[in-house]
Amino acid sequence: MKDLKVNDLFIIEEKNKKELAENLHDHLGQALAMIRLTLKKIQGNAVFCGLDGEINYALSLTEKCIKYSRDMVTELSPMTLHKFGLGVAIENLIENLQLRHSLKINFDHDKIPDLGENQRIYLYRSISELLINIVKHSKASMASIRFMFNDRALIIKIEDNGIGIKPNQNFGFGLMSVMERINCLNGHFLIKPQPKGTLISIEIPLDPSEHPR
Ligand SMILES: Nc1ncnc2c1ncn2[C@@H]1O[C@H](COP(=O)(O)OP(=O)(O)OP(=O)(O)O)[C@@H](O)[C@H]1O
Ligand SMILES: [Mg+2]
Repeated sequence: MKDLKVNDLFIIEEKNKKELAENLHDHLGQALAMIRLTLKKIQGNAVFCGLDGEINYALSLTEKCIKYSRDMVTELSPMTLHKFGLGVAIENLIENLQLRHSLKINFDHDKIPDLGENQRIYLYRSISELLINIVKHSKASMASIRFMFNDRALIIKIEDNGIGIKPNQNFGFGLMSVMERINCLNGHFLIKPQPKGTLISIEIPLDPSEHPR
């Protein structure tokens, strides 16, 4: 098991994110739902005292806060990942990105083997960062995520048809943390500039004795 200290930090980070998500959901989320309910109750009568504009405004702000807090909860602790696994969680991620950006992402999620908890969450965080990088930096119109595996290893290829990463590109926090997470899974992370765009290849061993589950 490599990089135990970094791995410990990632485990603590995930635990903190989960706690924060639970607090957000249980306290802020509940309070906002009550505010919305109260505002809806007085909405009908507000017109009689000329306050309907203000109440409607407060309601629309509350709806925005509810949406924002739900998105935060999902980002901090993706329920779909814990409940339905990596494939469905990536599909959700793609759906959200495609709604907000003009990027088509192809993904075939049939080929994902059973994974340990750390593998699932580290791969999810890494793929999420790589997809956000494509949206932020690549100017690509198309991207794809492919999974391949055999008895020993899982290989993930993430490709875009954008401007490409410069060969001597310095890593920022995002790519550094992808590299460290893959390192914690005893895997390899490779960036291969293409004639058009970027291909990122991740390979992790599937043997449970070779990585922290
Ligand atoms: N798919 C891509 N296509 C083109 N350039 C890319 C791509 N992914 C990353 N880059 C380049 O690599 C740089 C480093 O990426 P990295 O994710 O480490 O940092 P960042 O996205 O700029 O910031 P953050 O730390 O918030 O993630 C980016 O600033 C960008 O110039
Ligand atoms: Mg980034």
